[in-house]
Amino acid sequence: MDELLIKQLESMALEIALAAGSLLVNERPVHLSVDTKTSETDVVTAMDKAAEAFIVESIKAERPNDVFLGEEGSVNISPNPSNVQWIVDPIDGTVNYLHRHPIWSVSIGVKVDHITQIGVVHAPLLRETYLAVKGQGAFLINETGKQKISISRNTTLGHTLVATGFSYESEKRKKHSKVISEISDKVRDFRRDGSAAIDLCMVGLGRVDAYFETGLHPWDYTAGALFVQEAGGVTGGLAGEPLNDELAIAANPGVFNEFATLIRDNYQKFYLSLRFK
Ligand code: IPD
Repeated sequence: MDELLIKQLESMALEIALAAGSLLVNERPVHLSVDTKTSETDVVTAMDKAAEAFIVESIKAERPNDVFLGEEGSVNISPNPSNVQWIVDPIDGTVNYLHRHPIWSVSIGVKVDHITQIGVVHAPLLRETYLAVKGQGAFLINETGKQKISISRNTTLGHTLVATGFSYESEKRKKHSKVISEISDKVRDFRRDGSAAIDLCMVGLGRVDAYFETGLHPWDYTAGALFVQEAGGVTGGLAGEPLNDELAIAANPGVFNEFATLIRDNYQKFYLSLRFK
């Protein structure tokens, strides 16, 4: 891997995520205009669009041939695309942003030749930034500086604190509630913070032990999944599959197998019918 390229992508991703975070905090209008997407609960704000445009334009100014996958629709428009792809969620946790709840993030993943090399999740109101560089580790950046972190050491399913999130589709929400109800006596407790990117980083940081969700998109999980892996954690989807849009599971290595089996079994039980609709 070209070390200079990785260094350039890392500093661009960090700098642009921080600048987008400032824009989202400082330029939020008093009355935020909001549209809905797939359902009444799936919202997009004028600030999602403004932040994504800012991120894409900032990248293009330095690297005009890179390609994009952005939640608000940015795709490759370069006639001569490079092998670098930026996967951008300008606000992961839009509903929280809309409600002035502090848990939301700017999430930027960077792939080179289809492999995620950099993940940056910046949570402006938590005053924290989570950085992962493939092969180099996972780092927490805050006012005290930059420190390498690692995942929790819990090995007991019953002590496992589980983060999760709900899809915007009502049928999936109902099924997800059933899974949660079914496993509620097997784990310590649940957290639903409202940003999948932050949830994944919380696994990496060891602040929760595991995470699962269905129906995510690459912009929700690309950066956070690398953070989990670089912190020493494990990610996956259905048996034999990587973490993907259908099923996202992440945990520390001490509980991953047991936790993933529990989630996969219940996924089969409550969700699989959806797959064939
Ligand atoms: C959402 C958040 C939420 C998760 C949803 C995602 P968005 O992303 O990550 O926590 O439960 O599945 O879609 O729409 O705020 O970018």
